[in-house]
Amino acid sequence: MTEHLSLTTIPDLNGRFDLYGNIHKAIRKAGCELLCRLGAADYDNADERAAVLAGLRGYLAIAAGHVVHEDEHVHKALQARGASTATVDDQHDDHRQAFRDLEALAQAVEQAGALDRSAAGRKLYLAFAAYIAEDLAHMHEEETVTAPALWKNFTDQELIGIEMRIVSSIPPEKHLAFMRTMIPALNPAERAALLGAMKRGAPPEIFNAVIEFAVRPSLSEIAFDDLANRLCLAA
Ligand SMILES: [Fe+2]
Repeated sequence: MTEHLSLTTIPDLNGRFDLYGNIHKAIRKAGCELLCRLGAADYDNADERAAVLAGLRGYLAIAAGHVVHEDEHVHKALQARGASTATVDDQHDDHRQAFRDLEALAQAVEQAGALDRSAAGRKLYLAFAAYIAEDLAHMHEEETVTAPALWKNFTDQELIGIEMRIVSSIPPEKHLAFMRTMIPALNPAERAALLGAMKRGAPPEIFNAVIEFAVRPSLSEIAFDDLANRLCLAA
């Protein structure tokens, strides 16, 4: 874990391709919302307990998939050009341990009797809060230290190639779930840039499915209209 985060030496993008920005905004938003849900849940209510634990497991599956994508497509590429990924590799190992610990704590909530259930819920909430704290610090490391290493070692075309390999490794149904999480986490210009690139590059039926099943349901009417204007979508 990073000992001290540098809060004042955050590098500018300077027009370079940002491999981490969108997905990390999605992970931060989903993680912070889930932390609040875990804190507010009534663990004695069976339906609520099942729903919040399902939300936790869905989040952990996305987080575990994200770690694999970075290991396979980002860290290996950096290592092949002689750059060290030791710090972020260690942090990913810590994450894998955290995923196992959090699953064990979720099972403890499910198996607890009425007398121990709220104590088990409190342990899960505190453990998830500590995990989120580590993940926030880890993503800061990636966006302030690893990203400049990527810009130094790769052209933007090569970084876009890495992103395309990650995206094409995700099955379509998981991709829709990613987009549902990501789109509301982005600002309006970022949404338009991401979906504009998809509109230009993807078959129309795929683009339309993303709009109808991932984008429209995840935005307010005002935010969707703003995006539709930016993308020149037919009403
Ligand atoms: Fe990471």
